[in-house]
Amino acid sequence: MGTVHVLEHPLIQHKLAILRDAQTGVKEFREIVGEIAALMCYEATRNLPTEEREVQTPVAKAKVRVLAGKKLAIVPILRAGLGMVDRMIDLIPSAKVGHIGLYRDPETHEPVEYYCKLPADIAQRQVFLVDPMLATGGSASAAIAFLKKAGCRQITLMDILAAPEGVAVVQRDHPDVDIYVAAVDQGLNDHAYIVPGLGDAGDRIFGTK
Ligand code: PRP
Ligand code: URA
Repeated sequence: MGTVHVLEHPLIQHKLAILRDAQTGVKEFREIVGEIAALMCYEATRNLPTEEREVQTPVAKAKVRVLAGKKLAIVPILRAGLGMVDRMIDLIPSAKVGHIGLYRDPETHEPVEYYCKLPADIAQRQVFLVDPMLATGGSASAAIAFLKKAGCRQITLMDILAAPEGVAVVQRDHPDVDIYVAAVDQGLNDHAYIVPGLGDAGDRIFGTK
């Protein structure tokens, strides 16, 4: 069973409080999604392997540690996941970015795929799949299945907010995938929105409502 890491860090929780507030405008919402993504990225990459190197400082030789092992990829689920990418790339500039386009059918709440473009060597990369919202889990589960079909073996899911239902679906369908979230909320309403949640993440990032 994949581990669910709930990131209780005070900075993440403070910023999440601003995201939840219906009064927060588009510009601030978008900036804070990026800031939380960077803080979550810091936690989710905590166990990446490093290897020893030597560099010449202006004073002497120094033994240093640099990232080793698998290359990384960041894969946002379109569209809201895009809001998390830039600030993660700032921290991991060598990561490649793939895109998986899914939207939830408003009636059935089932994910519908409309676009997909992954780095050619995605199967050799450790993947961070990012999306602010894990509601029913349908989108995340479909995206993970798609990545596995493309050969990915090491996948980490990063969501800002999750519902217990979505966590359970990902754990059932993909027990090998760890999940990083800032909070797990009470549940879903009749429209499969997270309660209390923060509303529609894509609309609030891009100002489409
Ligand atoms: C939202 C969100 C997730 C999905 C979560 O996207 O960003 O991708 O819903 O719901 P689920 O867990 O029930 O699948 P949406 O479909 O609204 O598309 P958007 O990002 O284009 O707004
Ligand atoms: N997608 C969102 O953007 N918000 C929710 O609460 C559920 C799905």
